[in-house]
Amino acid sequence: MIKLKSLKILLVVLFTLLKFCCCEDYGFQLLFTSNTEELEDTEIKFERKLPKWLKGTLVRNGFGKFEMGMRQFAHSFDAFAKLSSWKFDGNGSAYFSTRFIESSFYNDSLATDDIAPYLLFEGVIPEFSAYDKMKALMRGIDNMNVNVYKFYNEERNSSEYVALNDFWKIYEISPWDLTTLGAVTPHIGERSLGGSFGFLDLLSSAHPLPEPGTRNHITFLSSVSVIPFFSNTISLIRIKSAVEREVIAKWDVGRVPYMHSFSVTENYAILFANPFYVNVLRMLRKAEPFECLDWYADEPTTVYVVNLNSGELITMSTINVFTMHHVNAYERKDKIIIDVSAYPSPEFVKSLQMEILRDPTQRNAFDAHAQLKRFRINLTKNKINYVKRDPKTKIPYSMNLDMPTINELYRASRYCFVYGIVLKTDNINLSHISIVKRDMCRRGRDRSLYIKYHYPSEAWFVPNPRRKSEDDGVLLVPILDGVRQKSYLAVISAKTMKIINRSYLPVVIPFSLHGRFFDEIV
Ligand SMILES: *[C@@H]1O[C@H](CO)[C@@H](O)[C@H](O)[C@H]1NC(C)=O
Ligand SMILES: *[C@@H]1O[C@H](CO)[C@@H](O)[C@H](O)[C@H]1NC(C)=O
Ligand SMILES: *[C@@H]1O[C@H](CO)[C@@H](O)[C@H](O)[C@H]1NC(C)=O
Ligand SMILES: *[C@@H]1O[C@H](CO)[C@@H](O)[C@H](O)[C@H]1NC(C)=O
Ligand SMILES: *[C@@H]1O[C@H](CO)[C@@H](O)[C@H](O)[C@H]1NC(C)=O
Ligand SMILES: *[C@@H]1O[C@H](CO)[C@@H](O)[C@H](O)[C@H]1NC(C)=O
Ligand SMILES: [Fe+2]
Repeated sequence: MIKLKSLKILLVVLFTLLKFCCCEDYGFQLLFTSNTEELEDTEIKFERKLPKWLKGTLVRNGFGKFEMGMRQFAHSFDAFAKLSSWKFDGNGSAYFSTRFIESSFYNDSLATDDIAPYLLFEGVIPEFSAYDKMKALMRGIDNMNVNVYKFYNEERNSSEYVALNDFWKIYEISPWDLTTLGAVTPHIGERSLGGSFGFLDLLSSAHPLPEPGTRNHITFLSSVSVIPFFSNTISLIRIKSAVEREVIAKWDVGRVPYMHSFSVTENYAILFANPFYVNVLRMLRKAEPFECLDWYADEPTTVYVVNLNSGELITMSTINVFTMHHVNAYERKDKIIIDVSAYPSPEFVKSLQMEILRDPTQRNAFDAHAQLKRFRINLTKNKINYVKRDPKTKIPYSMNLDMPTINELYRASRYCFVYGIVLKTDNINLSHISIVKRDMCRRGRDRSLYIKYHYPSEAWFVPNPRRKSEDDGVLLVPILDGVRQKSYLAVISAKTMKIINRSYLPVVIPFSLHGRFFDEIV
């Protein structure tokens, strides 16, 4: 009897050991595995009372499905868009919802049980036919899986909630139940955009920014000319509602760069034109944007500074760098400070292919580290400088922060704190991911949170309405618990970077990119 019992214990111990030792990043693959379950307002429990002031809804966008029928996406960025939301009613209760964005792309794909021919960042396996590739090029990108945002419509005196990709077209969504309300192709004045070569005409940003002192927002529009002798252009755009926009400035460019985000200060917009340019001829042939962008490792980065009021453009250049996410920017007398999270090259983004992400050896082999970089523009001299400075930190990897977020009340103002994640913090496993707070004012307030076999995504900061400091608030972070193979939402004190509490969800959330907290949605 005793023998049998000890044998059982031994077996349990062996099993547990096996479970941990065989898979150095247990459960990580679930971030890149389809989950088709949809839920609406499922109550979730936090064991500890949440702060009473936490009221509103966190809506996040990201990946839901990585294949349809017999066909698969080659690159994770092409996964079908799926929204998730956490509603806090301010009485300690919380409700979770998750739903696919019912875009034309998603609907057509479901109806045919195959990936429908719309433009993707990379190819599909098996490949589209030449005819379908042409069709995809004409239709452009329809899969808005990157971000969510709120515009204000003055005419209707109401907010409009949208899902975005790096593209001019957007989808309007309901933040209450995550239903898709419909596609919007914004127009400029009377002119409705949407040429015959969808993607090439209408590159834009999944990261609009508020225009300080107004209820408008700012974005850009890049247009690649497919007609010889017609010039390529970049426009800085003022967003007056989901559909109504106006041009602040428009200028010709020799080549069109891939840009994902930009910065706005009180009076200026700052665009970093990565030396990563659209190769038009290859694009027309292959219809796969990531394969049709050429990286110039020896060229400087062109920087455009546009005056938001006059539209005046100043062009400068700085070090060669590939910037995905701008963190924040602000003016100080005759200078502008700009912080970005950049990479040495686009190799990182290219590496986020399904085949690489699903294979531990391959995914651990590429350089997964972003680098926080500060630039300073002298407005008297019209020059930009990369500010190389001693990071002054006890957490050296805090400089490798990716997916940056800030206290949005400090947008376009002098600020100190940036929150984000750092991949591969052990320099071995991509899946070794820490949640990091970096003090840009270098007063030793860097913090980091790491939980073994747990995989966090972007950390969104929600301020305490009675805040006493910039970091008085909580971070809401969806995390996949690789051991239990379940996702949960962590509520983290932004001050201490300790978990206040968490709530497990009835489903796994595949990797999510960006989200936002809307305090009016309860
Ligand atoms: C990281 O990789 C090493 C070597 O493969 C492995 O022993 C370790 O368990 C991994 N750690 C984590 C946290 O993923
Ligand atoms: C959540 O709160 C309960 C009750 O106070 C506590 O026992 C538990 O440790 C907390 N969980 C986390 C992850 O902080
Ligand atoms: C929260 O509780 C208060 C008082 O108990 C109640 O008046 C209010 O309606 C509740 N709010 C929600 C969203 O349930
Ligand atoms: C996709 O299908 C759903 C369900 O039939 C519908 O409500 C939605 O409007 C469709 N989307 C588009 C973009 O037509
Ligand atoms: C706009 O709506 C808000 C609340 O929805 C209301 O308080 C305000 O008076 C309205 N403004 C105008 C100009 O109608
Ligand atoms: C900007 O350049 C001008 C002219 O060279 C110089 O006088 C000024 O000190 C510079 N400002 C900053 C902030 O470096
Ligand atoms: Fe982004």
